Amino acid sequence: MAERIHIFDTTLRDGEQVPGCKLNSAQKIEIALALEELGVDVIEAGFPVSSPGDFDAVRQVAGAVRRPVVCGLSRAVENDIKTAAGALAGAVRPRIHTGIGVSEIHIRYKLRTTPEDILHRAAAAVRYAKSFVEDVEFYAEDAGRADNEFLARVLEVAIKAGATVLNIPDTTGYCLPEQYGAKIRYLMENVRGIEKAILSTHCHNDLGLATANSIAGVIQGARQIECTINGIGERAGNTSLEESVMILRQHPDLKFFTGINTRLLNPVSQLVSEKMGMPVQPNKAIVGANAFAHSSGIHQDGVIKKRETYEIIDPLEVGVDHSRIVLTARSGRAALAYRAKNLGCNLTKDELDRVYAAFLEVADRKKEVDDADLGVLLEQYVVSAIA
Ligand code: KIV
Ligand code: ZN
Repeated sequence: MAERIHIFDTTLRDGEQVPGCKLNSAQKIEIALALEELGVDVIEAGFPVSSPGDFDAVRQVAGAVRRPVVCGLSRAVENDIKTAAGALAGAVRPRIHTGIGVSEIHIRYKLRTTPEDILHRAAAAVRYAKSFVEDVEFYAEDAGRADNEFLARVLEVAIKAGATVLNIPDTTGYCLPEQYGAKIRYLMENVRGIEKAILSTHCHNDLGLATANSIAGVIQGARQIECTINGIGERAGNTSLEESVMILRQHPDLKFFTGINTRLLNPVSQLVSEKMGMPVQPNKAIVGANAFAHSSGIHQDGVIKKRETYEIIDPLEVGVDHSRIVLTARSGRAALAYRAKNLGCNLTKDELDRVYAAFLEVADRKKEVDDADLGVLLEQYVVSAIA
């Protein structure tokens, strides 16, 4: 039987950490409501101790959404945790997300402490968070570069203290999918009490592997993916929500499903892009402007005959009206005839030959031949052009 993968959206926290993407409370609420409609399981609304504005945003999101869990980030510091609890007080389903660095480099240089102290601080933070809310998630920062044996010990104390979700961040986007998957497998097999918690992936995209690593983690036993709309996030970004969801959907053989209404993926992507002032790269999988555009003659001919020849996803499934046949100097006669037909002009073979020669001249001058250009060509070269 297929198993459900929980989608933890951190667009409003890790995503919003991107320079220039700062949102105000009203914008965060608008996005949170869209995420609720999209069907995410958890919304990480912010880092309440970081600023009064973020405290207020988390408080308002907590009051606005009903179904998803609303989560606030904190370091393993009492004041952070207490502040997060305060911001989440109005939530129907509050979660505190607390944690600490666990790699040697974080312990020695950032935290300037010892592994024993990390164990103590991890347990104390989870215990303290538990005094406010039932649902506590623990993050082991830089788990991607941490020693697996030590990581397992930290997770054991977090579980003992009451954590029910264990986040394994590849904070620096360092891991290969095989390594990250093996880490998750190791933890599934070696952490005492792991059956009382679920493992969560949280991958960064510094090597372009965030989504691949998250999927590798799920295959090896993780049951939550932390991700953002459009893959937005610190540096090169986080795991992309739309990619993760569609990978699981396009590969039913993996036997996983999510609660996401995929038809809302494109509208939500556009909303986030607009509110954050962060354009989506045109070749971005699933939500990029070119994700369903075909411009070379060979591909266009195939798609016009049968869409599935060059598309593995029906655009309607992700909220895009239709595939696009773009006319460029690489386009063939089939694409030209198709676009002319869309303008109401059924070309004969002779007409097509005439228009095609003229079209190539225009296409060599212009990057893209649009409907207006095509209309002019049809008027010039076809006797009974557009009706
Ligand atoms: O990347 C990371 O390690 C994080 C944690 C704070 C969860 O974002
Ligand atoms: Zn992160």
